[in-house]
Amino acid sequence: MTTRAPQFPGAPVVRREARDKVTGTARYAADRAPAGCLYAWTVPATVAAGRVTAVRAVDALAVPGVHSVLTHDNAPRLQEPDDPILAVLQDDRVPHHGWPIALVIAESLEAARTGAGELHVEYERDAYDVTLTDDHPGLYTPEEANGGHPAVRVRGDVERALAGASVQVDATYRTAALHNHPMEPHAATAVWAGGHLTVHDSSQGSARVRESLAGALGLDPDRITVVSEHVGGGFGSKGTTRPQAVLAAMAARHTGRPVKLVFPRPQLAEVVGHRAPTIQRVRLGADLDGVLTAVSHEIVTQTSTVKEFVEQAAVPARVMYASPHSRTAHRVTALDVPSPSWMRAPGEASGMYALESAMDELASALGLDPVELRLRNEPETEPDSDRPFSSRGLAACLRDGAARFGWHDRDPRPAARQEGRWLMGTGVASATYPVLVSRSTASAHAARDGALRIAVNATDIGTGARTVLAQIAADALGVAPEAVRVDIGSTDLPVAPLAGGSSGTASWGWAVHKAATALAARLAEHRPLPADGITTTADTEEETGEESPYARHAFGAHFAETAVDAVTGEVRVRRLLGVYAAGRILNARTARSQFTGGMVMGIGMALTEDCGTDPDFGDFTAKDLASYHVPVCADTADIQAHWIEEDDRHLNPMGSKGIGEIGIVGTAAAIGNAVRHATGARLRELPLTPDTLL
Ligand code: MOS
Repeated sequence: MTTRAPQFPGAPVVRREARDKVTGTARYAADRAPAGCLYAWTVPATVAAGRVTAVRAVDALAVPGVHSVLTHDNAPRLQEPDDPILAVLQDDRVPHHGWPIALVIAESLEAARTGAGELHVEYERDAYDVTLTDDHPGLYTPEEANGGHPAVRVRGDVERALAGASVQVDATYRTAALHNHPMEPHAATAVWAGGHLTVHDSSQGSARVRESLAGALGLDPDRITVVSEHVGGGFGSKGTTRPQAVLAAMAARHTGRPVKLVFPRPQLAEVVGHRAPTIQRVRLGADLDGVLTAVSHEIVTQTSTVKEFVEQAAVPARVMYASPHSRTAHRVTALDVPSPSWMRAPGEASGMYALESAMDELASALGLDPVELRLRNEPETEPDSDRPFSSRGLAACLRDGAARFGWHDRDPRPAARQEGRWLMGTGVASATYPVLVSRSTASAHAARDGALRIAVNATDIGTGARTVLAQIAADALGVAPEAVRVDIGSTDLPVAPLAGGSSGTASWGWAVHKAATALAARLAEHRPLPADGITTTADTEEETGEESPYARHAFGAHFAETAVDAVTGEVRVRRLLGVYAAGRILNARTARSQFTGGMVMGIGMALTEDCGTDPDFGDFTAKDLASYHVPVCADTADIQAHWIEEDDRHLNPMGSKGIGEIGIVGTAAAIGNAVRHATGARLRELPLTPDTLL
């Protein structure tokens, strides 16, 4: 057994699958090619609402290689699926543009695609509405918003406090519908053999996929294995079961052969969720010293007619700043659009754009430095719950970031700095993300020859999960991380929650730590090892079952320098610097990658990303990466992520908070605030496109 000094915590261990990924040997869901595999191609609805009245498949079936065509007329019946978006090919209803209405199955991908093009579909069209407005007649107050948060929270008398405030801000901000667009599209390969269904699925959590399939297909979960060995990103869009898994399983059952289905990029946009657009009114009241007396944050957003999903954008305002009077509320309307869902920091990413832009407006109105304004409104306890914070590093992040960025040299006057034709400005915004953790199990095994193995159904969506779990286990066992084999990514392994909510490492790591600690204790007692080695198992039900008496959140501060072309209105982000307080950082290399990845996604949210909604056709206008612009390397010149050391004993044995999402939170506000500083123009709608700046 290797007995080098532990490299935990924080060591920048290189991710173990790095070579496999860059050499193309890492296998993703669509890389499986079982013998006799058929290929499926979905046919999306081309109307925004109505019914399928006829599907003529004669021409499609005549295409050489086409095996069969599934529609609502002949597709296997599903039991009630656990998510209504999975009830595909079950009836003639078209709830939104892009809803899958047929599946063409063929001997080759090309034949399936050609067959899909030969399918003749007739519709009965209904009137539809895809346009969100803040006076939409369908708006209602839901019971709760995503994450189980109450839709409305009121403290004190916010209207009176606003009316009596020395300084007020009342501004309405808009964010666009956004798409997750992971590099790897959603894909599944399904195989039935000997009464057992195996699905290789591109998912953030195969346990949930197995549950969905068991429910939808009416199967005992023991007869299903779902494997997500490598996943090329998800950003929330793979956090819940998506139709490719159900369709591939259905087609494999129907044909008696393995079936592979990959959603082509333009279809993804309408079947894997989107970040719902928001209209957000923020009202702030403060005294002349900049101390907040009233915070009101009201969200208007959209869901679909298929199910309710409410982007919880007012929730961060319940955490951020002290104020005796506050109101945070969500209203939603069901439009004829695809069902919105999770996208990296749902709630926080949208809500903190508005709140942190409004804080900048307040700073301008007061003639106060925006960093100082935030420091003056640090709460003693979590404003909404009055619970003590387990740790709150916002002030430290703001101070450290200001020093690193050179904030204090800033001339606060807008439109005061020009370099050639570029108007230069800087901006700041805070970030926050809750500490989430879920129950997990894991096992640890020491073989007689000393080989160590950890097993847990974690998912690596590109974060380096295997690597950090090896570090956690190695720390408990007193060995080097390379000495620990880590098996993840299959429902055959101990049950574990999804890679989502920035909770993966905390949830799986806790169980791994517990199993490995138990193994270390057993190893100390048993020399030599029994023939079949020693196995320990762990379940964190007890540790994660009760709600913490502490308010637990990660915090951060984002600083941006932007250059705005005075002639074209083009915005360039010259510098972006984030400082985070996220507990102990377990792997400096992979953590930095997550932070900067979030920041880059924030640049996209600020400047280019917008699905566009077409009221004439009822669909999204930007459905591929040629029209939906995500930042490229040239857009990300100087991006820095730093963190402050936090020793928080109220989290988990590793002392870690989540890091996957906070990088996108507030980034767009920092950029918007910098653009305001550069130009004097206060834009309140994302993305900040050149036409809006001219
Ligand atoms: Mo994340 S949006 O919780 O996958």
